[in-house]
Amino acid sequence: MRQKKQFVLAANWKMYKSPLETEKFFREFLPLEKRLSPDLQTLFFVPALNMSTTAQLLSSSKILWGAQNIYFEAEGAFTGENSPKVLKEMGSQICLVGHSERRSLFGETDLDCAKKIHCAQALGLAPMLCVGESLAERKAGQTFKVITEQLKNSLAQFDPQKKIYIAYEPVWAIGTGQVATAAEANEAHLILRKSLKDLFQNDIAEKTPILYGGSVKPENALELGKQDQIDGFLVGGASLKVESFAQIAQLNFA
Ligand code: PGA
Repeated sequence: MRQKKQFVLAANWKMYKSPLETEKFFREFLPLEKRLSPDLQTLFFVPALNMSTTAQLLSSSKILWGAQNIYFEAEGAFTGENSPKVLKEMGSQICLVGHSERRSLFGETDLDCAKKIHCAQALGLAPMLCVGESLAERKAGQTFKVITEQLKNSLAQFDPQKKIYIAYEPVWAIGTGQVATAAEANEAHLILRKSLKDLFQNDIAEKTPILYGGSVKPENALELGKQDQIDGFLVGGASLKVESFAQIAQLNFA
């Protein structure tokens, strides 16, 4: 049985919440957060338009926050993109890379992910790389092939001396209410950890948090979170309300 030192609970707010709604959320969540287990690390991936508000509200808390997408250059003539350099200056420590909505709706490739991870790490941001198979790929028995290829290709320029998070998010489970079973999720995590071992070293594979994402809710979180390969969650819908997110945060996954 693997020993889990820390459980990582990450929120992906997608394109929801105004700065006012962000302020309302954190004013309610911050007092609760102070009472959570010290072994729980909470992270928020907020919309770009809410980052200033988030930075101010979280400046004296241990909650980490970051962008849902960055560009793979520090700055430049890239209209509409998020500068990782500015993010870092604003106090962000993390960024999402390769979320399935970025891949399917905005054409993000593994090569883009590799460049974004390289740039994020060079600027001192810890990336959270998302991988996951579609329903057709799962039905065709391609799950492990798809996710290990995404992992390998996206980590082509990864610096193993620096922090990274991996999120396993089966595409068919995102926003659908159809959650992977605890056994399915744990098996996929095991495969990803083995790949990390093959690509890098044992200790890198062991210390890299691998999170599960896809319809995580207070009702299913405990069973998933108790799996020995699941080091945390990336939560979309259930992270939008303080009540449901805090319910997940208060569970004991040890
Ligand atoms: P969901 O989203 O929890 O609403 O399924 C997860 C994600 O997109 O990261």
